[in-house]
Amino acid sequence: MKGDYYKTKESVDEYIKLAKDVNGKLLIEKLKNILQYNSTILEIGSGPGTDWEILSEFYEVTGSDNSNEFLNHLINKNPNGKFLELDAVSLKTEMKFDGIYSNKVMHHLKDIELIGSVKRQNEILNSNGKICHSFWKGEGSEIFKGLFVNYHSIATLTKVFEKYFKILSIEEYKEFDKNDSLLLLATKK
Ligand SMILES: C[S@@+](CC[C@H](N)C(=O)[O-])C[C@H]1O[C@@H](n2cnc3c(N)ncnc32)[C@H](O)[C@@H]1O
Repeated sequence: MKGDYYKTKESVDEYIKLAKDVNGKLLIEKLKNILQYNSTILEIGSGPGTDWEILSEFYEVTGSDNSNEFLNHLINKNPNGKFLELDAVSLKTEMKFDGIYSNKVMHHLKDIELIGSVKRQNEILNSNGKICHSFWKGEGSEIFKGLFVNYHSIATLTKVFEKYFKILSIEEYKEFDKNDSLLLLATKK
C-alpha cells in the first residue's frame, strides 16, 4: 500500500469510523494541569477532530492537518472552527500560540524530522509555552498501512525535546494495551 492512507476520501472515512470511540480526554486532563484555560493552542494532526472538540471546551484552539481530506472533514463538521493546512515539521505559520498539542501524530516523523519539528514548535510558542504530545512506546520503526511509524522511549524523547524544552513529565499510559503509549508534557526553555 502506498503512503496515502490519510490522503484519500475512502481511507479517511474508514479511519474516522475506526477511531470514533477513541479520544484524548485523559491526555487533555493532564494538559489542563499545566496550561491555563482560554489559552491559545495549536493542535497538530487534528484528523477526525475529536480532540479538537474537547480542547475547544477549554481553549482557543486552531486545528491543523497536512491532509486535505481530513481538513475538508474538519471544516464541514465545524464551520465556525479555525483550521490550518500545516505540516508537522515545517509548521509554516506566522501565528504564535500558548500551547501545542498532538495525539498520535508525531510518530509519523522520522528522527530527523522530529528534531526539526521540535525546533519549530519552540519558535511558534509564546514565552512559557507548553507542549503535550503522545507517542507509541517501543523500539525502532515500521511501515503500517503504508505509513511510516516511529516508536519511542523515554530516553529517545528526552534526547530530542530537552534541547528546546524543559521536560515536565513523560508518562506511560494505555491506548489499547498496558503501557503501549507515552505522553510528554514540557515547557518552552
Ligand atoms: C493517527 S492519526 C491521529 C489523528 C488525531 N490526532 C486522533 O487522535 O485521532 C494521524 C493524523 O496526523 C496527520 N499527519 C500525519 N503526518 C502529518 C504531518 N507530517 N503533518 C501534519 N499532520 C500529519 C494525519 O493526516 C492524521 O490526521
